[in-house]
Amino acid sequence: MSSQRSRVVVVGAGPSGLLLSHLLAAQGVDSVVVEARSQAYVAARVRAGILEHSTVEVLREAGLDARLRAEGAEHRGIHLHWPGERHHLDFVDLVGRSVWAYGQTEVQKDLVAAAQARGQEVHYEAADVALHDLETDHPHVTFTDAAGVARRVDADVVVGCDGAFGPSRAAVPDAVRTTWERTYPFAWLGIMADVAPSTEELIYAWHPDGFAMHSLRSPSVSRFYLQVPAGTDVATWSDDRIWDALAERLGHGHDGWVLTPGPITDRSVLPMRSFVQTPMRHGRLFLVGDAAHTVPPTGAKGLNLAVADVGLLAPALVALLTRGDARAADTYSERALRRVWRCTHFSWWMTSMLHTGEDPFDRQLQLSQLRWVTGSTAGAAGLAENYAGLPLEL
Ligand code: FAD
Ligand code: DHB
Repeated sequence: MSSQRSRVVVVGAGPSGLLLSHLLAAQGVDSVVVEARSQAYVAARVRAGILEHSTVEVLREAGLDARLRAEGAEHRGIHLHWPGERHHLDFVDLVGRSVWAYGQTEVQKDLVAAAQARGQEVHYEAADVALHDLETDHPHVTFTDAAGVARRVDADVVVGCDGAFGPSRAAVPDAVRTTWERTYPFAWLGIMADVAPSTEELIYAWHPDGFAMHSLRSPSVSRFYLQVPAGTDVATWSDDRIWDALAERLGHGHDGWVLTPGPITDRSVLPMRSFVQTPMRHGRLFLVGDAAHTVPPTGAKGLNLAVADVGLLAPALVALLTRGDARAADTYSERALRRVWRCTHFSWWMTSMLHTGEDPFDRQLQLSQLRWVTGSTAGAAGLAENYAGLPLEL
């Protein structure tokens, strides 16, 4: 067994793991990152597309926003659509904050480039990753590296940035942790298409057949989602069926608006779930991002919430490890969870407002809610404040 020591072991090299190691390194705190997948696999995963105001601020302060500013697109707001109606909510007018369209794949590439530039130790393709002695002052992580070498890293702190399926969440004993969960009877069919977006800003659409969304990645790449029943086999959706459903639900023809189809380059079905595990700290283990919570994607909070957790935890760990000041680390879980529950509510609320089922009463409530958030400045500002992102500390 090859043994080494680091101040921090970060489990998972997704956006939260690499961002945390970046922010720690900037303050002189070394870390070792351990990731189950290959670097190429992690960088290619198609996921989130919208960065809220505070995420952009965290990336700016970290010096990671150059390509985001050059290649991302700043959006003032979103469109809400339902049959016969389309309304634009201008977040800048409503709450003074914008959002940026910049894919998680691009954020990941920027984080990988920064990690390489500073010589960050990242073990990709690590097998049998296990966390040990988290309740003592000598936690450590063991794994088998890509070359088959058994390794052990001792640290002061272990941070679980390993998403919904990693080992960190379950490393908190059952007697200590509490979980909350909501499953939804629908999923999203997501596609990427090589076609110029048919809209400048996102369209979220309510339709009796189900929710649809038009998002984008670049001037030549569009992203779309369709509500489908949970458990849908992606093979049952042909290209024609997808484009017909998108045209119908997104309002092709409404006031002359045209949806332009194009070649589909990626398609997958995304299950939807709300999940929170508390506390987000146990002994020397801290949980960050999807390792502690999952939100349904409506409202684009998953990645933003992960970055917000890192924005709170990084300075707390720096204070703990460089000055012996445990106050911020001791309150991390409580402070992070205030925002986690706000975003959990917002994601559930957006999901509930926009996804249709069979109940005619529910549909009338949804349409009434949509008329309120588009027709009342107070209603619109509530959506805008949550969508464009609240301050890191609530
Ligand atoms: P992750 O990105 O999940 O990273 C965790 C990392 O840990 C991964 O690289 C994983 O390989 C690694 N890992 C797992 N197990 C181990 C192990 N045993 N040992 C070591 N490493 C391990 N959010 C939105 O806002 N909008 C969207 O459209 C959207 N789409 C999504 C689509 C999918 C399919 C998924 C899964 C999520 C989506 N999300 C979306 C959510 C968003 O992508 C996540 O909230 C975000 O990636 C969280 O970042 P993270 O770093 O906490 O976790
Ligand atoms: C995207 C995903 C979301 O969940 C959302 O609310 C907005 C945009 C996207 O992938 O572009």
